[in-house]
Amino acid sequence: MARRFALGLCAFLLACGAQAAANPALLGDKEAFIADLMSQMTLDEKIGQLRLISIGPDMPREKIAKEIAAGRIGGTFNSVVHVDNRMMQDAAARKSRLRIPLFFAYDVVHGHRTIFPIGLGLASSWDMGAIERAARVSAIEAAADSLDMTFAPMVDISRDPRWGRTSEGYGEDPYLVSRIAQATVQGYQGPSPARADSIMASVKHFALYGAVEGGRDYNVVDMSPLRMYQDYLPPYRAAIDAGAGGVMVALNSINGIPASANTWLLQDLLRKDWGFRGIAISDHGAITELVRHGVAHDNREAARLAIKAGVDMSMADSLYLQELPGLVKSGEVTVAEIDRSVRNVLGAKYDMGLFHDPYLRIGAAADDPPDLYAESRMHRTDAREIARKSMVLLENRNRALPLDRAATVALVGPLADSPLDMMGSWSAAGKSTSSVTLRQGMEEAMRGQGRLLYARGANITDDARIVDYLNFLNWDHKEVFQDPRPPADMIAEAVRIARQADVIVAAVGESRGMSHESSSRTRLDIPASQRALLHALKATGKPLVLVLMNGRPLDLQWESANADALLETWYSGTEGGHAIADVVFGDYNPAGKLPISFPRSIGQIPTYYNHPRVGRPFVEGKPGNYTSQYFEEKNGPLYPFGYGLSYTDFTVSEVSLSSARMERGGRLAARATVANVGGRPGETVVQLYIRDEAASVVRPVKELRDFQRISLAPGESRVIQFDIDEEDLKFFNARLEHVAEPGAFEIQIGLDSQAVRSQRFELQ
Ligand code: BGC
Repeated sequence: MARRFALGLCAFLLACGAQAAANPALLGDKEAFIADLMSQMTLDEKIGQLRLISIGPDMPREKIAKEIAAGRIGGTFNSVVHVDNRMMQDAAARKSRLRIPLFFAYDVVHGHRTIFPIGLGLASSWDMGAIERAARVSAIEAAADSLDMTFAPMVDISRDPRWGRTSEGYGEDPYLVSRIAQATVQGYQGPSPARADSIMASVKHFALYGAVEGGRDYNVVDMSPLRMYQDYLPPYRAAIDAGAGGVMVALNSINGIPASANTWLLQDLLRKDWGFRGIAISDHGAITELVRHGVAHDNREAARLAIKAGVDMSMADSLYLQELPGLVKSGEVTVAEIDRSVRNVLGAKYDMGLFHDPYLRIGAAADDPPDLYAESRMHRTDAREIARKSMVLLENRNRALPLDRAATVALVGPLADSPLDMMGSWSAAGKSTSSVTLRQGMEEAMRGQGRLLYARGANITDDARIVDYLNFLNWDHKEVFQDPRPPADMIAEAVRIARQADVIVAAVGESRGMSHESSSRTRLDIPASQRALLHALKATGKPLVLVLMNGRPLDLQWESANADALLETWYSGTEGGHAIADVVFGDYNPAGKLPISFPRSIGQIPTYYNHPRVGRPFVEGKPGNYTSQYFEEKNGPLYPFGYGLSYTDFTVSEVSLSSARMERGGRLAARATVANVGGRPGETVVQLYIRDEAASVVRPVKELRDFQRISLAPGESRVIQFDIDEEDLKFFNARLEHVAEPGAFEIQIGLDSQAVRSQRFELQ
């Protein structure tokens, strides 16, 4: 590694010749190096560094190169081709006056060429090692494709599944999402973002984007400071504490001020309170949108607000380039304000190792991969292992799963053989032709043994308006395949094969575009075309196994009552078909747990488990009148946070505490014995929740504070210990101080957020 670094540096300096603006003698000292470079920059060159452009497939390369060489572009995104990036880097690092390198970014969210499960799927593994590995592999692949930065992790807490971007995030819980934020940043950046096989993480969307009103994308966020600090901000903070070099600023407004113009957010909180020293990048076109938010009269005012608030780089527009020179001239923006952002941009480039070697990840032309999609560039073993861990078994009546591979199986549903949907949205440079579908996976698993019959059975939806919308969202390819046959014929074909089979496996849910940016829904059900198929399959009387593919919690009331087994597979990525087959045939015993509650109906939203307490709580089994509830249906979620079954059975003993008291600054141990009382080896996630009995502000009914994913052989039991200290008892009080108050706490240990055993203690 060190050798590659040194060679790269020599090559770069040689190419730059004697006039290199960057002073190599100062390279060891970041501050001095950047100060020296900035002292040589004109105002226009500084402003040029603040511009991040998207490279579209049809953009004139020569024009871009000219702009870069003129010092009017600081970085690009969406360009993933060595030849293009080398050409652009040549323009920057060899032809521009000061030879300041560009950086190349991309949305590497859950994989790059190898696609891993979507965020909700990764979170369902509760396996930090696996999640870190997915990010590390993504970084290795992205860096090998000449990329320096990813716009990830996406750690927006989401409690409203109408929001299509729920799929991208890691669920509803601040603690779990914070742990994942940390693991992903470590994975992307590795030991250092300056390594040739690392990419810089830019955590997004700062902040609170997951709380858009009504789950409608881009909508406003209006939130109390307590909720913000307690629930929504911790994951961003965790990513920053883990060393994320970048932050992407959210598109939404927060309590009346758009994030992109929010000085409190970007300076007081992010930089002063949290000590962030990296780069803050706007979201796509967000600065111009300040005009549409109605806080700026025109682009000029928008640029002024954003730069003053602390948005360092403007993404996908020329606003800074056009407006900042005039704003500086008139004195409305100071050179010091421009310098602050330039320092952050150059600092990020320094941290990515680009001043040491602008070609660190681009490499030499002679080394360009002959085939970008070559199998040798993929990480299929990791993808299969991690995908298996992401699956959640929601129902398994009469042990309908696992299936006997010598049986005759009728595989139906629009998602059974859809390679594009397997990848989920934001699939970076993944190619659908690399995806293993469920049909392929099951065929391989059954080869030479049972019989797999297949019929599509239904389209994702018969609503042409929805199909048009999904195709329109993804303008560069046909997103949704519509079988032209009449729905009744497709169902009849599916029923015919179902009658010949021992068991039906139906792969149903949403197409990937239904759980995407700008894909907010007003309903959470499986579309009517697929429901009609399921009803017809149910009527055959054959065992019915549903393999769900979706990017948000769905309303599964009918399915949970009528299917024999429900396996939530999310969008499981390149190796999804193999991974699902592993679970379906019992080669792998599922252990995933929900990172987000599944409501019974859309009217219950939000359904998150860690709800603040109320004065008239609804208590199951007690009369419901004048309590906080809905009277039309059963209360509480259909499937709670933390829930997931296994092919074996586990029990949890009573909880024992090392002491009934905790001194200030002290700690105690909570223990419970978990036993595998079933007939198979299996894994489960033991979860620790804490309930604060009384405090100076209203506290949640319980909060996840720790967890352990464990593996037990049949008949084996193990004492699981959680160490609890004062930090675990802290919360934000009315003055937003992070404190632990004396009094009683309840420790709860269980295998989901509802089925817990508990024990109390007092903090002195
Ligand atoms: C999304 C971001 C993404 C950016 C660049 C925006 O529309 O909100 O999450 O990083 O585009 O692709």
